[in-house]
Amino acid sequence: MGRIERIVHFHVAFWITLIAAFLRVCHGDLSYSVQEEMKKGSVVGNIAKDLGLGVKGLSDRKARIEIERNGRRFLDVQGGELVIAERIDREELCGSKSSCPLNYELVLENPLELHRIALQIVDVNDNAPRFPKNEMKLEISESAYKGARYPLDEAHDSDVGRNGIQTYSLEKNEYFTLSVQSNSDGSKYGELVLDKELDREQQQEVTLLLTASDGGSSQRSGTAVIYVIVLDANDNRPVFTETIYKASLPENSPSDTVVVTVSATDADEGANGEVTYDFSRISDKAARLFSIDNISGEIKVIGPIDYEDKYEYELRVQAKDGAGLTSNAKVNIEITDVNDNAPEIYVKSLNVPIPENTPPGTEVGIINVQDKDNEGNRQLRCSIQQNAPFKLNPSIKNYYTLVTTAELDRELVGEYNVTITATDEGSPPLSSSKTIHLSVSDVNDNPPVFEEQSYNAYVSENNKPGSSVCSVSARDPDWRQNGTVFYSLLPSEVNGVALSSYLSINGDTGVIHAVRAFDYEQFRSFKVQVVARDNGSPPLSSNVTVSVFITDENDNSPQILYPTPEGNSFMTEMVPKAALSGSLLSKVIAVDADSGQNAWLSYQIVKSTDPGLFTIGLHSGEIRAQRDISESDSMKQNLVISVKDNGQPSLSTTCAVYLVISDNLAEVPELKDMSYEENNSKLTSYLIIALVSVSTFFLTFIILIIAVRLCHRRKPRLLFDGAVAIPSAYLPPNYADVDGTGTLRSTYNYDAYMTTGSRTSDFMFVTSYNDNTLPSATTLKRSPGDNSECLNFTSLDFTDTASKCSTLAYYMG
Ligand SMILES: *[C@@H]1O[C@H](CO)[C@@H](O)[C@H](O)[C@H]1NC(C)=O
Ligand SMILES: *[C@@H]1O[C@H](CO)[C@@H](O)[C@H](O)[C@H]1NC(C)=O
Ligand SMILES: *[C@@H]1O[C@H](CO)[C@@H](O)[C@H](O)[C@H]1NC(C)=O
Repeated sequence: MGRIERIVHFHVAFWITLIAAFLRVCHGDLSYSVQEEMKKGSVVGNIAKDLGLGVKGLSDRKARIEIERNGRRFLDVQGGELVIAERIDREELCGSKSSCPLNYELVLENPLELHRIALQIVDVNDNAPRFPKNEMKLEISESAYKGARYPLDEAHDSDVGRNGIQTYSLEKNEYFTLSVQSNSDGSKYGELVLDKELDREQQQEVTLLLTASDGGSSQRSGTAVIYVIVLDANDNRPVFTETIYKASLPENSPSDTVVVTVSATDADEGANGEVTYDFSRISDKAARLFSIDNISGEIKVIGPIDYEDKYEYELRVQAKDGAGLTSNAKVNIEITDVNDNAPEIYVKSLNVPIPENTPPGTEVGIINVQDKDNEGNRQLRCSIQQNAPFKLNPSIKNYYTLVTTAELDRELVGEYNVTITATDEGSPPLSSSKTIHLSVSDVNDNPPVFEEQSYNAYVSENNKPGSSVCSVSARDPDWRQNGTVFYSLLPSEVNGVALSSYLSINGDTGVIHAVRAFDYEQFRSFKVQVVARDNGSPPLSSNVTVSVFITDENDNSPQILYPTPEGNSFMTEMVPKAALSGSLLSKVIAVDADSGQNAWLSYQIVKSTDPGLFTIGLHSGEIRAQRDISESDSMKQNLVISVKDNGQPSLSTTCAVYLVISDNLAEVPELKDMSYEENNSKLTSYLIIALVSVSTFFLTFIILIIAVRLCHRRKPRLLFDGAVAIPSAYLPPNYADVDGTGTLRSTYNYDAYMTTGSRTSDFMFVTSYNDNTLPSATTLKRSPGDNSECLNFTSLDFTDTASKCSTLAYYMG
């Protein structure tokens, strides 16, 4: 043992004793500390003394160290001392733990005592740092940049604490420095830091010596050799000939058209200089349209190119050499437009139908034209056919308004098919057209128009009520109800009676009906305004005048005014005895309510006492002597005169004229006897009596029937009333106005009848029209005949008539 060793030993012993004393005081247990690797038999501590028992005491009490099963006995009791029984390797027992205690129990018998002995193994720097491998190989590319770090294998030292690895050092060299790094557990490792770029061409390999040192008092160290192999780098990337390739491609280019060829060169040789191409970034859409040849760099069309779809593509191509170095370039492909899209015409709004009263210039629709092409190919011209009253006004952008240019008239043109044509300015130009259906809706702008300016209707009197008189018709070209015509009569009065009681009109057909029978003698014509009205709103109407002319029928027999048929007094004409041939003796005055031929009267002597003595003017009714009156002529002369009109058939009336040939008025009373002296006077009287009786009976019978009817029907049917109520002739002043032929001029010649019987008559007409029965017509026909009572007796002998008609002498002038 050298001097230094002895000093250390002393020190250790001193410290152990101190610590042991301290432990014993504190814990009552025995605690020792011992360095590892002590020789067998080395004294750890004086246990006899520490327990205060002495060597003898210890042996007496059989002091011994108890070991747990499988435990290793590192300590033993020899004499009064604890000694090392076996070499202790701390690293084996406790590894890298910093504290390494061993616990034992000291057993003393008699009395039994247990003392715990804690033995702290103290590390000794007995291990040198060691690298896992003595050589390390690093391949570093010559292109590695300055400052690049390369971690190195960590060296290992079994010792702990300061005896563990404390530092690394690197043999000084040109290229690398060392940087020592710590792990989280405190262990350390080194990193090579490139201090100067390597150049394989200068030095292919660098050898370095790395030393790891621990911090023990007798420092130990381990080394490793680092071989750095400098690798050759692929210095050169492929280089594109251009950074941006620009290409222009017309749309619709067929497949396989080469768009552009990209090309890159690589300065490296061999595999490093072999360049392949690919798209490095490409949209899905572009990927469907373009392909690139990996070897040649040709970019080709593989899909349909549509300018309208997309007009610009940006692709990225990548050139890659065999070692994987790449570079990128852009390819911009611009698609050029081809006029492949026809214009499109859209009707954005349409106000149909268009009312025909729309003023010119009204906007009826909005048209939009579009063309997907570009530039001139989308410049559009829009036109409309010329013959329709519409035009296109350019509005904003590609919008046009469709406006009317003229008044519309549905009645002329009810619908238009307007064709709009749009043409682009491409070459060749494309065009398309669209037809718009424009309908014109009706406005009630046409009043009904009668087919004729005025209508004349001719109705013969005594017509059947309900019979049609005439038919008017109006046209209205408007649509549906605006053109539906209804007819009506404008209310007015005819002779003070509402028109509606004369005429009615069928509102739908325009047929005018007579409501009652007309009487020519009452009025010959009247005018009616017929209104045709359409059903529009507001309605339009027009009117037309219908002149109704009533034509005469020979329904009135001549009526004798003179000699008056009234009264029973015998009117006689005095004829001077000296009357010469041709002298005017008397005149029969008769009228006929009819007109024209029907009132053209002719007079005839049908019976005379002395035929040949008197003549009557055929048309004048003047009774003249046919020859000179002689004394031999009978004083009393009777004439029966027939007055006949010229109708078809003609009607006639007879009357008697009594003439007395005498110059002396005193002889006249004898005339009274004259009638009684007639041969037939008796028979006549009988006849009259019989007739009166029959008449009375007949009247009574009729009154009865009427009464019964009234009771049953509660409806006055005075069919015969007119006949009965008719008064004997009442002659208005007009009757005096007699023209040469004896025909009444007045049109009012029948007023009398109408005033007395009109109420009843009106009533009858209304009911009869409704009932479609026409008894009134017959009644009416008869009544004028009744009026002239003479007619009833035309078949009688002239002497009977004499009883009815008396004659007065009448002298002209
Ligand atoms: C407009 O066109 C429609 C259908 O195409 C046709 O039925 C109609 O008769 C045409 N009208 C005119 C006025 O040409
Ligand atoms: C009739 O004309 C009116 C305007 O006067 C109009 O509103 C209406 O629609 C037209 N009726 C028809 C059926 O056309
Ligand atoms: C009948 O028509 C004319 C013009 O045609 C008009 O002046 C007159 O007012 C109309 N009369 C009636 C009652 O409608």
